[in-house]
Amino acid sequence: MIADGDREVAGTESGLQGNGAPSLFCQNIFMELDLLTTYAEKAYPILAALVTPRPIAWVTTLNENGTVNAAPFSFFNVFGDEPPMVVFAPGNRDDGSPKDTALNCKRTGEFVINMVNEALGEVMVRTSASLAYGESEIEHTGLVTIASSTVAPPRIALAPAALECKVHDILEISGNRLVIGIVTRVQVQDEYFDAATSRIRTDLYHPIGRMAVPDWYCKTDQQYSIDRPR
Ligand SMILES: Cc1cc2nc3c(=O)[nH]c(=O)nc-3n(C[C@H](O)[C@H](O)[C@H](O)COP(=O)(O)O)c2cc1C
Repeated sequence: MIADGDREVAGTESGLQGNGAPSLFCQNIFMELDLLTTYAEKAYPILAALVTPRPIAWVTTLNENGTVNAAPFSFFNVFGDEPPMVVFAPGNRDDGSPKDTALNCKRTGEFVINMVNEALGEVMVRTSASLAYGESEIEHTGLVTIASSTVAPPRIALAPAALECKVHDILEISGNRLVIGIVTRVQVQDEYFDAATSRIRTDLYHPIGRMAVPDWYCKTDQQYSIDRPR
């Protein structure tokens, strides 16, 4: 039996079958890691390096004093289109208090996800600095915002695209919150939208992705397609 932390050698000599397809049996060696016990302290860097690249939600919300809060979250994705639904996950701070974004989402029920391209990478990271509640990362970094159409928090003017969202629910799981949002409006820079086909110009739109923590990112300008069986 394989125990947590053991190495396992699986299978036969070749990783490929005669037809070139990957075999179920190969000589790969596996480490088995229990993230709930032995590797609990390392769960974050292990998961954050394995589940990559992750999209980055650069979330704008309104603070109680009316200033604009901005912070990036890479525990983020889209989870459906009917209704259009996104989820991101602000973890609590070390002292157990919720992050400003989580507080604002709960209080106002609204947020905007600003997408991040290469040009915005560095300023996006600067907005991850912990400022006192009510202090605006937008003002701190000199970013400019534009009013949203369907929600009160504005979007970041330079973002190639933004998703205006209303909070559907916030699930609290231990020290994490899953903020579930319904997208009420998409704002996308004209050059990235092909009006004739109503599709995003993925040949031009290249958001960056989050790789291993703490500081690794990837570019997405080398995309390729794989035909699906019909
Ligand atoms: C690229 C990037 C991705 C991040 N992703 C997350 C995340 O998914 N969850 C989280 O709790 N913090 C994440 N952080 C850290 C937050 O951005 C940081 O704690 C920020 O200060 C929170 O701001 P707020 O208190 O204004 O909400 C990330 C930071 C960076 C630079």
